[in-house]
Amino acid sequence: MPTEPTYLIVGASLCGAKAAETLREEGFGGTVIMLGSETERPYERPPLSKGYLLGKDDKSVIYVHEEGWYAEHGVDLRLGVTVASVDPAGRAVTTTDGDSVGYDRLLLATGASPRQLDIPGAARDGVMYLRTVGNSERLAAAFRGGGRVVTIGAGWIGLEVTAAAREAGCEVTVVEPEPTALYRALGPELGGMFADLHREHGVEFRFGESVSEIRGPGGRGLAGRVGEVVTSSGAVLPADVVVVGIGAVPNTGLAADAGLETGNGVVTDAALRTSDPNIYAAGDLASSYHPLLGRRVRVEHWANALNSGPAAARSMLGQDVTYDPVPYFFSDQYDLGMETAGLPEPGRYDQVLYRGDRQGREFIAFWLASGAVVAGMNVNVWDVTDDIQALIRSGKQVDPARLTDPDVPLTEV
Ligand SMILES: Cc1cc2nc3c(=O)[nH]c(=O)nc-3n(C[C@H](O)[C@H](O)[C@H](O)COP(=O)(O)OP(=O)(O)OC[C@H]3O[C@@H](n4cnc5c(N)ncnc54)[C@H](O)[C@@H]3O)c2cc1C
Ligand SMILES: NC(=O)c1ccc[n+]([C@@H]2O[C@H](COP(=O)([O-])OP(=O)(O)OC[C@H]3O[C@@H](n4cnc5c(N)ncnc54)[C@H](O)[C@@H]3O)[C@@H](O)[C@H]2O)c1
Repeated sequence: MPTEPTYLIVGASLCGAKAAETLREEGFGGTVIMLGSETERPYERPPLSKGYLLGKDDKSVIYVHEEGWYAEHGVDLRLGVTVASVDPAGRAVTTTDGDSVGYDRLLLATGASPRQLDIPGAARDGVMYLRTVGNSERLAAAFRGGGRVVTIGAGWIGLEVTAAAREAGCEVTVVEPEPTALYRALGPELGGMFADLHREHGVEFRFGESVSEIRGPGGRGLAGRVGEVVTSSGAVLPADVVVVGIGAVPNTGLAADAGLETGNGVVTDAALRTSDPNIYAAGDLASSYHPLLGRRVRVEHWANALNSGPAAARSMLGQDVTYDPVPYFFSDQYDLGMETAGLPEPGRYDQVLYRGDRQGREFIAFWLASGAVVAGMNVNVWDVTDDIQALIRSGKQVDPARLTDPDVPLTEV
């Protein structure tokens, strides 16, 4: 009698958990095992820099599934288990405890880790990163009662944490080497809008500067608590807490050591297959060929983890999968909420147009390249992202007057 196949998922976060869910929804009757380093059951990270960090959301909001879901759906979830190596020829992984787990198909969903600051003093107490729920809880405790925060990096983590720190009553200075906030993600136009938003909330920015040293209070001591941050211009910034948000690095070690093709992530085709026919990759980890964009992309956002896990699961089941959604991400800072479709990185657009009230921060921004919309951001405007995504997907030339006229439906631009 043939034995049922085993599908193994390494990485028990949003991407892995949604893949497991899809395997069962699609009727897979074999064994599903999920191994994850963290001790919490799979959870979503967006609340960690927003509602949960602010103390507004209960911890229950973070979880992908109810506690009993895994057992009820025959998913063998093993937490606190780190995979040390993958043997593609033997179709097995080995954990750091020395256990071997075999598989017929393997999904790598090991995500990304915070890039580490490498300057003198970076290991001092009070220098904090944000990736896990434990990190979020420690930051919330550090912000309680105010104090002086220096944020290193004006990216997504830097800005969302800065907003939370301000709401907790902390003074915040942000150090960022680029000319403005979110420069690489959004370009100067909309990045500048986020910088202005934070300035209005009393945040000080030091753009065009990096950090060279983190010292103790009054510049004293080689170890111990943080007291001040020295920037590349020689400025000395007093700090009770330092938050580092200088990017994420994909956790490619397992794949690279196993001989899979890597390069800014684990390389996959549009069906999320790696260079090994039995191994798939998805979420923050995967650098996947994207037919719509015509290039490989690695998207480090929630919606990609949510949707690529299921796509990989269907691909593992032998279904014909082409994973090519318009990239999507969102953020909430103070009273500004936004959604962005597309990847409006500098160099990929030549024009920015607006529809709506920019002053009142209730508008849609469109990034265009050669007359076609390549990305769009709705700021405090809702229920338009599907229409924006359709515009991007169409690739058609648009009439700027109609695009910017709020009376013309986006479906008729
Ligand atoms: C604080 C924060 C806020 C965010 N907010 C937003 C937002 O507002 N909007 C948005 O679009 N995106 C947001 N993101 C991004 C989004 O959360 C990520 O894109 C998403 O978490 C990626 O999911 P993933 O499952 O691919 O990887 P991860 O979430 O990184 O999970 C990977 C898991 O694999 C585990 N793992 C790694 N190596 C091994 C191993 N060898 N063995 C076993 N397990 C392993 C890790 O411990 C981890 O649990 C945010 C991210 C953070 C950190
Ligand atoms: N709303 C969202 O989508 C959201 C929210 C939080 C986190 N995330 C994800 O979490 C991950 C980590 O976020 P992040 O903000 O760390 O990364 P990021 O890539 O968004 O931003 C990193 C920032 O740090 C700057 N930087 C790089 N090196 C620096 C240095 N030495 N000193 C000072 N600044 C430096 C960069 O110029 C950039 O502005 C990313 O994958 C991000 O997409 C997403």
